[in-house]
Amino acid sequence: KTNERESMYLVSDYAQKYFSEILWEREQGKAIGLSYFKERGFTDDTIKKFDLGYCLDQWDGFTKTALGKGYQLDFLEKTGLTIVKEDPGNPDNKKTFDRFKGRVLFPIHSMSGRVLGFGGRILTSDKKAAKYVNSPESDIYHKSKVLYGIYLAKQAIAKEDNCFLVEGYTDVIQLHQRGIHNVVASSGTALTSDQIRLVNRLTNNITVLFDGDAAGLRASLRGIDLILEQGMNVKVCTFPAGDDPDSFAKNNEYEDVVEYLQNNSKDFIQFKASLLVSEAANDPIKRADTVRDIVHSISKIPDRIKKEIYIQECAQIMNISEAVLFNTLAQIGKKDT
Ligand code: CTP
Ligand code: MN
Ligand code: MN
Ligand code: MN
Ligand code: MN
Repeated sequence: KTNERESMYLVSDYAQKYFSEILWEREQGKAIGLSYFKERGFTDDTIKKFDLGYCLDQWDGFTKTALGKGYQLDFLEKTGLTIVKEDPGNPDNKKTFDRFKGRVLFPIHSMSGRVLGFGGRILTSDKKAAKYVNSPESDIYHKSKVLYGIYLAKQAIAKEDNCFLVEGYTDVIQLHQRGIHNVVASSGTALTSDQIRLVNRLTNNITVLFDGDAAGLRASLRGIDLILEQGMNVKVCTFPAGDDPDSFAKNNEYEDVVEYLQNNSKDFIQFKASLLVSEAANDPIKRADTVRDIVHSISKIPDRIKKEIYIQECAQIMNISEAVLFNTLAQIGKKDT
């Protein structure tokens, strides 16, 4: 099993180098892949640092080349780089397809820098095809246990004693290029405890950056309780409508981005309490739910002193007595354990 995983690492590493070579050396790679990344504002340095690549728009150009180099179909299939289909009429005749055909590639690295998998972005605006295709779960790639960018971010996270958490590959890359290196992405999935644990080894502080559209904001609030649960301090920062960290970092200078992040990062509990209060307005039933919701978040904080301080602050923000909040906290405590 160890040998098998080692073979999967080797084929993934080969694939990353192959796709990068296509991007830099081949006419189609340069004309399509490289120019796509340049149009997004990525510099040569950035494209190299993140090992970005391109998979030619051929059915199995990568697979054939890899097989020719002696990599086994078994491992190409297990890593998901190659999709194998049996020919129903002729079981001996297997058809192979490159999973990432015609896509630009974002390799996903482990904390120690090994290539675990890929995210592949489509270049056309074909509404029927998925914008991103990702490597499937495998013995080396567990998407709930990795954070995109962690390999390049880990030193800065420790040094800055803070980690910015964003949604997507391009948000990480654009912020990194702008000079903000302590940033990782959950890659569009709901945040998991394992992902938070990776960051918790490096710092106790997380700042979650939300896209300006705020569509994902409500859905993400519950996921943040998982960060509180690990005793970490959480801030959140929203961007102007229509902006995401990618566009904001692209269109502003380093100093302005840093200043924006400093001025707009808010304590998560205070942010959530204010948001819920404004949404519930004068509806008493909604307000009751809101109180339970915020106390539920506070109940996740392991530190009792912090719990008490947050109860006091939320009592003010929500204009409700501390006693009621403490009672609710006690009730939740009984239910949860
Ligand atoms: N994602 C995914 N599959 C999809 C859509 C999104 O895996 N079909 C993940 C990707 O990791 C992506 C992240 O969710 O980076 C955020 O999605 P989205 O905001 O739609 O993409 P962006 O990263 O903003 O990409 P772009 O700017 O190129 O549109
Ligand atoms: Mn996005
Ligand atoms: Mn810690
Ligand atoms: Mn989004
Ligand atoms: Mn984007």
